This record gives sequence, structure tokens and C-alpha cells, in this order.
Amino acid sequence: MRITTPIDELDLYIWEGKTDIVERAARCMASLDVDVIRADDIAISPQRIAARASIAVVSVSVIDTGALVLREWQATYGMPVIWVGAVTRDNDPATYPAEYSYILPLDFTCAELRGLVSKLMIQVRAHSAQTPSADVLIAESESMRALLGEIDTFADCETSVLVHGETGTGKERVAELLHRKHSRYSQGPFVAVNCGAIPDGLFESLFFGYAKGAFTGAVVAHKGYFEQADGGTLFLDEIGDLPLYQQVKLLRVLEDGAVTRIGSITPVKVDFRLVAATNRRLPQLVKDGTFRADLYYRLAVVELIVPSLEDRGVVDKIVLFKTFVEIAVGEQRLAALPEMPYWLAESVAAMRFPGNVRELRNLAERIGVTVRQTGNWDARRLRLLLAGAGAVRTAQETSAPPIVDRSKWDMAERSRLIAALDQNGWRRKDTAQQLGISRKVLWEKLRKYQIVEEESEMLDKD
Ligand SMILES: Nc1ncnc2c1ncn2[C@@H]1O[C@H](COP(=O)(O)OP(=O)(O)OP(=O)(O)O)[C@@H](O)[C@H]1O
Ligand SMILES: [Mg+2]
Repeated sequence: MRITTPIDELDLYIWEGKTDIVERAARCMASLDVDVIRADDIAISPQRIAARASIAVVSVSVIDTGALVLREWQATYGMPVIWVGAVTRDNDPATYPAEYSYILPLDFTCAELRGLVSKLMIQVRAHSAQTPSADVLIAESESMRALLGEIDTFADCETSVLVHGETGTGKERVAELLHRKHSRYSQGPFVAVNCGAIPDGLFESLFFGYAKGAFTGAVVAHKGYFEQADGGTLFLDEIGDLPLYQQVKLLRVLEDGAVTRIGSITPVKVDFRLVAATNRRLPQLVKDGTFRADLYYRLAVVELIVPSLEDRGVVDKIVLFKTFVEIAVGEQRLAALPEMPYWLAESVAAMRFPGNVRELRNLAERIGVTVRQTGNWDARRLRLLLAGAGAVRTAQETSAPPIVDRSKWDMAERSRLIAALDQNGWRRKDTAQQLGISRKVLWEKLRKYQIVEEESEMLDKD
């Protein structure tokens, strides 16, 4: 058995500019389980990077070029950055949030790098335990598993996909998953646009972009959404809200595969995969004359239906709830607490959530934050939160006997773990990433459900 160090199982992203720090860092980490990934061109999106426990090592020489991207990493994902090089007035890392900035000289020694990285690993692991991964799509019920199957089937086709479902059911999650699973477009950006929130008169400049000098204030050229999504996925949310005249323009772009910026006469080729979502019934809108039939047929080549939470059954509801609560409580706190009381899951199972997963998630997060603050599962306080949640309980549900028995719930989680391990060739690192939990939590779950003992020879793979 391998003895692990605090730095094992790490992805180290290095953005080196004109230095040789990638090679030197790789040598320093050679005996450890560390992937040193060169990130100069930021081909990997920040979300993807931060979905894994990671630290960025950045040469100060790239500060000018990469300022925005790094800010995003740090502010959004709390990813620590080790700045390498001599700090001058123009490239002062002090302009970055101090709690995430660390400095090493350009001629750092292995001991210095390893010392700093092992200190930061503790910070990274604590943070990653609290950050829900953008990758997770929790699916226990048959209807959700069928949807996952369809996503797999259609992920790699290049046609448009229409995602239909009630509000808060996870349509955007489905779109993200389609994007990630596409072999080619997943390397490109995922651009999400809410068609219901486009201010009047801004459609053209937002979608088509403009050339420099196209109008007063256009001091630099700007790419519109179509161009921004080039090589990736354009996700048009609330497509049913797009006014008719904008529908015509969208259709034209889909047919021509090209856009012309405002103030320019030169069309630019664009290649993206379109995923649109709506909670409205588009065929009805077509009948009413508010949605173009030709656009509808173009969009709905493949139609995926995301079931409402009520249609998924109780186990889905409980597993979602438990996952969101655990993320909000945080891994460290959770380790010091007894397991979530069963009455809590049962109460949630008997509630209705018209706002679907989003509403369930809000409640779970309120509960998780309370438990985190108080350090216990205080029944009186939590019942008050449940009562104030606004989710409706029907009379029949209130008097109903327990809906799921515990063993069924455990079995569901166990089979979910095994399915995820299977999908990831039994690599714990990838499995934890897919499930949106840390490797430590995954390890504990494997022990709890005795998957380690039964499948031990396969687990050696990681
Ligand atoms: N199966 C799931 N697993 C994990 N999280 C989920 C799942 N489904 C939804 N969520 C979470 O629930 C929230 C709502 O999801 P999302 O925004 O994708 O819904 P939507 O259908 O696009 O909603 P709307 O109709 O309001 O646009 C998000 O926080 C999302 O992360
Ligand atoms: Mg949405």
C-alpha cells in the first residue's frame, strides 16, 4: 500500500509565461501523485479546473495578459495562486485577494515549492469540500436515469437539442452535461444566455457583437454570444421568451453558420452546438403564433424532458436533499457530527416543491448553514425551518407512514456509488469529481457501504 502525503492526488496548474517553471515543478513533484498541467493558453475553463482540488502556479510575467481569468479563479473558486518571480510595480500580486496569493522567488527550491503546496493543500481541500461541483447531476429515479441515458446517446451528435422541463428542474445542468460529454465542443466554451432577460434594443449587439467604431461608445470591437460560443456550446435558456423578430435572426444564423458584427460587412463563420431550454410548451406557442414553426423544428431535432421533482420519486428527493445539506455543512463539521437524523429526510420526502430542485436546494442550504453554525441537528430549530419553507404538505402526506425505509435509501446510495465507479473505470479521483464530493468523503462512503472490501482488487487501480 502506498503512503500518501498531503500533496498527493493534486492537480497543479502552471501558467508560466516565458519561464521554465513547469519543468522544474514537475521535477520537484516527481515522486508524488501530482498532475502538473500546463495552463498557458487557458484552454481548460476555470470551472473545469476548479472542479478538482487544485492550486495554480503563475509566473508574475503573465499578470497583464491573464488578469481577468485569474481574478475569476480566485474570487469564484477560492483557488490559491502561487506567484513566481520578482514582483515589480507593474505586476504586483498584492492587487489580488491576499488570502489566495503566495509568492515564491523565480529560483525557488523544491523544498520551498513543496512546503508551500502542502500548506495550501489543506486550504484547498477544506474549500473543495464546500464547493458543489458544476459536474454533478444527481439522478436516482428511473426517470432521471433514463434521461442520463438519453444525454449519453445524444451528447455527441451535433444537432440542436431542446431541453424541456418545469422551472428549477435542472435544465441548465442537463445542458452543461451535454456540453461536457461532447467530444469536440467540450473543449470550447459553454456560453449561457437567458433569452427572457435581454433588454430591448440590445439583442443585436449582444448576440452579433460590433466592430470598432460601429456606434458612439464602440471604442473596441466586441464579440457577440454567437462568436463567443464558437467551438463550444451556446445555451439559450427561456427560448420561449424570445420575440418573433429575434427568432428570425437566430434562425438565419443557424442556417448560414455565420454572423456579421454590427458596423461590419464581413461575415464570420461560427461553429457551435445549440442547446435551448424552456418551461413553456413550444408547440402551443407555435399554434398561438408567438413562436416560429420553422425555428421550433430546427431546435427540437432532439428533445429531452427533465422530469419534475414530484415525478422522480422519493429517493431522488432525499438524495438531493442530503447532498445539498452535506455540502452546506462542510466536510470538516460533518465529520464531527452524527449522521443526519432520519426524521429530517423523511419530513422532506413528504413535502412538495413546486420550484423543484432549486427550491429543495434553497431549503437544504438553509438547514445546512444552520447546522454548521450550531454544530448539531437541533430538531426544534430545524422543524421551524421546515415549517417556514413554504413547500406544501398535502393532508394525505402529513398522515402518511414513513415513505422510504432506511435500507432502501442506503441501497440507492450504494448503487449510485458503484455505478459512478463503473463509469469511471473505478478510479476514485474521477468518481469523486463526477459525484461532486471530495476523495475523502468518497473513501468514507466506500467503507460505509463496504464497497472497499468487496471490490478491493479493482480499487487498487487508483
Ligand atoms: N439533478 C441535479 N443534481 C444536482 N443539482 C441540481 C440538479 N438539478 C438541479 N440542480 C440544481 O438546482 C438548481 C436549479 O437548476 P437549473 O438552473 O439547472 O434549473 P432550470 O431548470 O434551468 O431552472 P429555470 O427553469 O429556472 O431556468 C441549480 O442550483 C442546480 O445546480
Ligand atoms: Mg434555467
